[in-house]
Amino acid sequence: MQRAIIYVFSGTGNTLLTANMVRDSFERSNVGTTIYEIKEPFDDVPSPQDFDFVGFAYPVHAFNSPQFFLKFVKTLPDANKKAFIIKTSGEPFHLNDASSHKLYNLLVSKGFDVMLDRHLLMPYNIVFRYEDELVKQMYIYNEKLCELFAADVLDGKHKEFHFKLRHIITSAVFRIQWVGAIINGRIYRIDKSKCNDCMLCLKGCPTKNISYEKEKLCFDSACAMCMKCVMLCPVDAINPGILRFWKVNGAYNFERMMNDNRIKGDFINEDTKGYFRLFKKYYRNADAQIYGTDGDDECDGQSEPEDIKQHV
Ligand SMILES: Cc1cc2nc3c(=O)[nH]c(=O)nc-3n(C[C@H](O)[C@H](O)[C@H](O)COP(=O)(O)O)c2cc1C
Repeated sequence: MQRAIIYVFSGTGNTLLTANMVRDSFERSNVGTTIYEIKEPFDDVPSPQDFDFVGFAYPVHAFNSPQFFLKFVKTLPDANKKAFIIKTSGEPFHLNDASSHKLYNLLVSKGFDVMLDRHLLMPYNIVFRYEDELVKQMYIYNEKLCELFAADVLDGKHKEFHFKLRHIITSAVFRIQWVGAIINGRIYRIDKSKCNDCMLCLKGCPTKNISYEKEKLCFDSACAMCMKCVMLCPVDAINPGILRFWKVNGAYNFERMMNDNRIKGDFINEDTKGYFRLFKKYYRNADAQIYGTDGDDECDGQSEPEDIKQHV
């Protein structure tokens, strides 16, 4: 039996949910799949050498893969294994494309055979909350896209990785966010009048950046800005420093939306106007991949069928 592992960094659950969809598709094809959620300390990490397929899944942060995720990948041993990348982000723009540039180079330097990547839309966990209709649409599409992606991985398909110079430069400039996270991590504050000392933030923090000292929750400089603490706080007591005007508190309840037939899940359609009209191309291309309809010429970071060629 073939085996796969997907190393997942997920602040607020979107990337984990997506990786689980790929896992489910693998398992339907009898590929036993382990999901390894990355958190400090990096101990008891399964070795990629023990698997046939190795996945790397992360949320796009400021047009980059999170520094914490790259730090983890650096600790993995070299492995000449088939690898794939999954990235989730809140918007479909090309600027997100080069977020895997550093990761790709790192994996190649470690001997991985990086076959494919897949960029999937998920709701913003920062800036503003997406409406249920759109969240459901994202979920429905991701299930189908993950199934196709998993089949491509198991078929041994490969794509040519091209990162456009202007995207690489943008991504490099926005790595200022890595410095911002270090500084901002220290200025997170707890609203004592709301906090009920449930410790969910402390227990959940993937970088172990939160401690409890002298009856007070303290934040240090290892913050990955993943928003897990903010999103999961049941009483909305965390003020995330400079991001305080961009916080989204309370997890998206995908299960409720999927079970609610009043939510149609067709938020983005040909009539969509305003900011979200920019999402049409992504869904046109998704339809092309799922239903074989016409897509747009240029695809937002997706593995287009024509990009994929059988590995020889
Ligand atoms: C600090 C930060 C930076 C982000 N930057 C981007 C970005 O550059 N582009 C984008 O489309 N989404 C961005 N997002 C949104 C996330 O990529 C998106 O919500 C993702 O699905 C979250 O995944 P997670 O729940 O697994 O952490 C950002 C989120 C955070 C917290």
